[in-house]
Amino acid sequence: MKALILSGGKGTRLRPLTYTGAKQLVPVANKPILWYGIEALVSAGITDIGIIISPETGTEIEKKTGDGSYFGANITYIRQDSPDGLAHAVKIAQPFLGDSPFVMYLGDNLIADDLEQYLQEFVEKKLDALILLRKVSNPSAFGVATVNEKGEVLALVEKPKNPQSNLALVGIYFFSSLIHNAIANLKPSARGELEITDAIQSLLEDKKLVSARQLKNWWLDTGKKDDLLEANRIILDTDLESENLGIIEENSQIIGRVKIGKNTQIINSTIRGPVIIGENCFLENCFIGPYSSIADNVKLSETDLEHSVILESAEVVGIHQRIVDSVIGQRAKIHPALKRPKAVSFMIGDDSQIELI
Ligand code: DAU
Repeated sequence: MKALILSGGKGTRLRPLTYTGAKQLVPVANKPILWYGIEALVSAGITDIGIIISPETGTEIEKKTGDGSYFGANITYIRQDSPDGLAHAVKIAQPFLGDSPFVMYLGDNLIADDLEQYLQEFVEKKLDALILLRKVSNPSAFGVATVNEKGEVLALVEKPKNPQSNLALVGIYFFSSLIHNAIANLKPSARGELEITDAIQSLLEDKKLVSARQLKNWWLDTGKKDDLLEANRIILDTDLESENLGIIEENSQIIGRVKIGKNTQIINSTIRGPVIIGENCFLENCFIGPYSSIADNVKLSETDLEHSVILESAEVVGIHQRIVDSVIGQRAKIHPALKRPKAVSFMIGDDSQIELI
């Protein structure tokens, strides 16, 4: 059994963060989203993993993630020159996959369920495809499945305007090598991509063994800011354990579950968990409220924030309004006016979103 993680694509929905970085490396609770997928596969016993990368962000992914030894896996990087669809990614990975059955895992998806139960069913029933589904309120944003009362899949459509059900396809699929024949016969869709939903649909039409399971627990497709904050909240809620490797000074208070990395200095501040703070950070006169993740090398001074994700080397100084529900990108700087400002001055990149509330 092998795995193929898709970490190419353009990541337009998390812009402007993903102008400069891969969306699969955006951290959730200070760990890249992609790494959760790798860890889930390894704990299901799958260690031979291919990762699809794009020319724009591939080097960064490869450099950060390495050859897999950190995870107990063996990682092969496969470059996809342009994001021509999920099925296209499988097509170019065929030399790596050979005739092996495999799990296809979208590198921006996070699920709470263990993979083992699904893997076991896929193997025992000798299925050609096992897909995972989850009820959603906005099915038009996903691949959508129609199933009958016995739970059998009848049809799959990619991002339909008029969805026939509210069952979205989760970005984790189990395939036998038959999927390659289905992909070989595909034509690009209206949006110009080779769609994996069309390939599965053709397996269905050929009466191959396609089955679906509904996820038991939460699933997040972390393509957008609110999804990212939600994933961050859930992971901090469920997985975070307290640890303090930092230096806590003068009148600081640490309340609840808080993890603090090496060489991080906290002065005259209150941290109310669940909160994770990386290494080499400097926090002075701050209140950091629940569900915040602060990456390495961040500087925060006179800052009050909660339910936010601050990326590496960002700097926030003297903002006297509470910062909530925010994502602040790598090396971004937010600095104050000297007095309460009557006017504000910005330099804002394309596609940024600023809400003054
Ligand atoms: O998240 C679940 C959804 O994922 C499914 O419901 C949809 O059926 C499926 O098409 C997919 O939709 P998205 O619009 O979320 O796909 P996205 O373009 O975000 O790509 C998902 C991952 O695959 C992401 O990590 C980028 C990578 N990718 C994407 C394309 C199109 C590639 O590596 N190569 C590609 O050509």
